[in-house]
Amino acid sequence: MENPSSRRVLPLIEAPHVGGRSAMTCRFRCGNACDHEVPNTTGNEYFGDLAVRAVSRRGALRAGALGALVVGAGTAGVAAAVPAAAEPDASTLSAGQHGKSGLAFAPVAPNRQDALVVADGYESAVVVRWGDPVTQDAPAFDFDNQTAEAQAKQFGYNCDYVTFFPMGPNRGLLWVNHEYTNEALMFRGYTDGNAAPVEQIKIALAAHGGSVVEIRKNGSSGRWELFTHGPRRYNRRITAQTEFAVSGPAAGSALLKTAADPSGRTVYGMLNNCSGGTTPWGTVLTCEENWNQYFVGGNGVPEAQKPYLARYGVSTTTAIPSGSRRFDRVEERFDLARHPQEINRFGWVVEIDPFDPSSTPVKRTALGRFAHEAATTTLAKDGRLVVYMGDDGRFEYLYKFVSAERYIEGFDRHNRTLLDEGTLYVAKFTGDSPAAEIDGSGKLPSDGAFDGSGTWIPLVTGSRSHVPGMTAEEVLVYTRVAADKVGATKMDRPEDVERSPVTGAVYVVLTNNSNRAAADVDEANPRIGNKHGHIVELLESKDDAGATAFAWSIPLVCGDPNDPSTYFAGFDKTKVSPISCPDNITFDAEGNLWIATDGNALAANDGLFAVPLRGPERGRVRQFLTVPCGAETCGPLIAPDQRSVFVAVQHPGEIEGATPDNPASRWPDGAQPRPSVVVSWHRQGKKIGS
Ligand code: FEO
Ligand code: CA
Ligand code: CA
Ligand code: CA
Repeated sequence: MENPSSRRVLPLIEAPHVGGRSAMTCRFRCGNACDHEVPNTTGNEYFGDLAVRAVSRRGALRAGALGALVVGAGTAGVAAAVPAAAEPDASTLSAGQHGKSGLAFAPVAPNRQDALVVADGYESAVVVRWGDPVTQDAPAFDFDNQTAEAQAKQFGYNCDYVTFFPMGPNRGLLWVNHEYTNEALMFRGYTDGNAAPVEQIKIALAAHGGSVVEIRKNGSSGRWELFTHGPRRYNRRITAQTEFAVSGPAAGSALLKTAADPSGRTVYGMLNNCSGGTTPWGTVLTCEENWNQYFVGGNGVPEAQKPYLARYGVSTTTAIPSGSRRFDRVEERFDLARHPQEINRFGWVVEIDPFDPSSTPVKRTALGRFAHEAATTTLAKDGRLVVYMGDDGRFEYLYKFVSAERYIEGFDRHNRTLLDEGTLYVAKFTGDSPAAEIDGSGKLPSDGAFDGSGTWIPLVTGSRSHVPGMTAEEVLVYTRVAADKVGATKMDRPEDVERSPVTGAVYVVLTNNSNRAAADVDEANPRIGNKHGHIVELLESKDDAGATAFAWSIPLVCGDPNDPSTYFAGFDKTKVSPISCPDNITFDAEGNLWIATDGNALAANDGLFAVPLRGPERGRVRQFLTVPCGAETCGPLIAPDQRSVFVAVQHPGEIEGATPDNPASRWPDGAQPRPSVVVSWHRQGKKIGS
């Protein structure tokens, strides 16, 4: 919903730092990772000689006929999963499944408005903002009188992953990640972590983590609101100081032990939780991403540890990296020179039970340690749990975890052990076109597609390592190093991964990688200086998420459709919306993909887009909404009844030079910018996008 008071000429315009991302975002989000050397210095070949089982795929999607109908857990944020079923019965399929997408909205034009702009016919409203009371005893937000005690009870900063647990048609719990803080926008007069008052550092610790909030539907419209009129028994804040348990094969490992925790099994806090997933048994998976930036003293660790720190982007030559929030000024464990192993306790997928506010969240070590972006669950044909995960860094890898045991519906105690034992795999992609035809321009090779086959290479199964020279614990704690050794394919920042609930195809979002040079291109990452990103589609062998072979192709190469390097699955490029830097994705019930962007490099605000993946409209990208100045679009989530779509508006006003006294956005209240979750719905109650 546009806030009339927020329509104004912006005081701050900057040249983008990397892609379309603000320099300020680079500093606070990931500690200026792009200014540093790429941590992956391996010479992994882009195409290797590992035997792959070629899975012929061409034609399968074009015919719009994949084998299995799959209702995947987590894909729509709904806490229920049904194992892959048999061939769909045509009589039960809706219109969309016959080839029509059901999408009918007029696209929102690219813009730079300081407003949330939604498609014609739609409304929107804020559900919850930074500072809104979460727990029953939380005080009201007061920008100029913030305290850490209050923040630990209020909605945290920079909302990212959003998932929903229905408790009836008009009631449910919303889980939201709080990825990072931007102190320069949170506090007047902030300069850096060295000079900041200690209370501000404590507020930042409390503003990280995540929130559980109960929401209720407003009447018969698609509007959802924070529930504030009665006991909020489920509402909870998790922060960078909450107690966590560690489970799985690396729990108790010597690599996780510290002076404060000689057991290696109890950690305080989670950091930089970006995207996530939802389990079939109704818990949240939340992913620690750029946790490396929170530590100082990397120059003071034992020499043998330095290569491992460097592989995760931690400086080993400076005591205090520039831009540090200086959490060590509040808790010395953030000083690696004094506590070199504390950092090994971050970088995990964390499981949280939203229905039990007294439960201890668990860091699940079997899923490996890297810059976890998402953890999307589904079931293999035999019922084993599968988790797809991206490692969001330039030239990093795509992973999946397959549990040892099967999911058993209703057997909660058993299901909650599934994430502790299984096999962690990393992906290797092989193209089917001659290398000479992949020229880096984005021009399709002569066979008409960027496509090929791939394998999932096992890294570790339970406490058994598959990587020569590394123990299972080392593989799990230093997963990037293990993946380097087996020759995984270096991708263009793997972010969200989701499996279509309709077709079972898996979509991997590669946000961008402006560092990809001519010598680096391969068929799966085919564009030099990939500023706008692309999306890869995987078809697991026999449509089985538990398979170790897959076929792949690239349906979307993003950017301005007038740019010849872009590709929209062959759809008429004069009829699509420009799209840049895809990040988080979700599906609607028809199997249309909804794409949120982060860092639009086309001089326009980020947004949410919808694209059909089957039938004659495959590739027809349309922009559904745009977010205010300086913000990225996160979430996204479509409610189970398909009548509401949630997005997290992260870092509004995050434009270099902006301060509370000179804000670059006044969204959503006409005052200071506040990261918020919003909901959008159709005025006549239609399905989202129709
Ligand atoms: Fe937090 Fe990879 O975005
Ligand atoms: Ca090809
Ligand atoms: Ca992201
Ligand atoms: Ca997602």
